[in-house]
Amino acid sequence: MTTSMSVPALFAENLHKTYRLPGAPPLKVLSGVSLRVEPGEHVAVLGRSGSGKSTLLNLLGGLDSPDPGFGARVEIAGRDIVGAPERVRALVRATGIGFVFQSFHLLPELPIEENVALPARAAPRFSRDAALRRARDLLAAAGLSDRLGHRPAELSGGEQQRVAVARSLMNAPGLVLADEPTGNLDPATGDAVLDLLFDLSGRFSDAAPALVVVTHSDAIAARCDRTVRIGRD
Ligand SMILES: Nc1ncnc2c1ncn2[C@@H]1O[C@H](COP(=O)(O)OP(=O)(O)OP(=O)(O)O)[C@@H](O)[C@H]1O
Ligand SMILES: [Mg+2]
Repeated sequence: MTTSMSVPALFAENLHKTYRLPGAPPLKVLSGVSLRVEPGEHVAVLGRSGSGKSTLLNLLGGLDSPDPGFGARVEIAGRDIVGAPERVRALVRATGIGFVFQSFHLLPELPIEENVALPARAAPRFSRDAALRRARDLLAAAGLSDRLGHRPAELSGGEQQRVAVARSLMNAPGLVLADEPTGNLDPATGDAVLDLLFDLSGRFSDAAPALVVVTHSDAIAARCDRTVRIGRD
């Protein structure tokens, strides 16, 4: 189903990243990383702690910018986000990318159905009612129908990550970026969260999104189509 002729879900090249903090020498974390992910493809990113996996994901998701001067490109479904104005980058991020983080990143004051519906506020395609309906459908599929009005703190870690998975699919993105989504969960709970991500992503959009998942788990890597290694072993 993936051919080299199609527009990739994600295309990145010449990514360099140097952190510059006052009073410390510059820290070069990425030196010319390139990555192409086809629509629907699942890619695992592996590498030791500190090798730059989260840094890479932040660049791929437009949450941070690569070093200038290397001709860096990051294209989401063919749209460049490196050279784009922040307004465009924000729109691509909101409509084209779903994010799942290790520490869930839910808004504590909002009921979980509002958390899941939140990305729709940045996307013109859903009315508020339609967004809430879709949020409830996603949460039902995540097995959380009876918790819609609960706040994140009233849920277990695994349940919170299921909410985050549902939220990541709210706008039917072509790409989901997940940074150690099971890192704070015990193995069985982590497996269930990954099952959910694989299962829901195909059911809540016309075409299953591509997935880039940072993980330390060989089991998760084995479930992906391909593995990419960052840094030295
Ligand atoms: N905002 C920042 N400012 C300065 N240094 C940073 C910043 N973010 C990350 N670093 C440094 O960059 C290096 C790579 O960090 P990064 O978080 O990308 O690693 P990682 O591969 O995700 O590690 P882990 O597996 O522990 O999550 C580390 O040495 C880290 O200390
Ligand atoms: Mg990390």
